Amino acid sequence: MSQQTPAVSKPEPEVTRRSFFLALFGIGSVGMGALLAVPVLRYVLYPLTAQRGSAGWSVVGNISDLKAELASGQPVRRTIDFQQMDGWRQEDSAQAVYVTQAGDGKLRVLSAICPHLGCSVSWQKTQDEFVCPCHGGRFAATGRHLSGPPPRGMDSLQYKVEGDRLLVRFQYFRSNVPNKEPLT
Ligand code: FES
Repeated sequence: MSQQTPAVSKPEPEVTRRSFFLALFGIGSVGMGALLAVPVLRYVLYPLTAQRGSAGWSVVGNISDLKAELASGQPVRRTIDFQQMDGWRQEDSAQAVYVTQAGDGKLRVLSAICPHLGCSVSWQKTQDEFVCPCHGGRFAATGRHLSGPPPRGMDSLQYKVEGDRLLVRFQYFRSNVPNKEPLT
């Protein structure tokens, strides 16, 4: 007769409970890690996803002064100061704008940045038009494109009047495309 080995009881319930808690701990750790990683990743990737943009309104000048200068029929050039975000950094910037007045008296504020490749456009009194020195783009006093490689007219900027002050919200726009596409 063969001897039978006595059955050894296996601690199955114990192993299963331990495995369950280990698995639960693992899942909890991964979940916590993922939760903590989201804000860290957002902070690290912010400069890649954030667009270079300007914030707020800049003073162009006093309406009364501007209107007095506009009475000559020529656009008025002003340099405005503004702050812009470049990644994490806030930078002080300055850009030239032109204030023009249409026949109905309505003001228009134009960016001096050429919509072709970004050179600075200037008003040529003798030619009665804006001219870009880089590739000869030409624009009417209203900013309308007249000739040359720029694919659109000069970019008009949002403005408002507060008391006797003219304020403008400066924006950059995508260059060399037919439609005005804000980058801010
Ligand atoms: S950058 Fe102005 S015409 Fe090219």
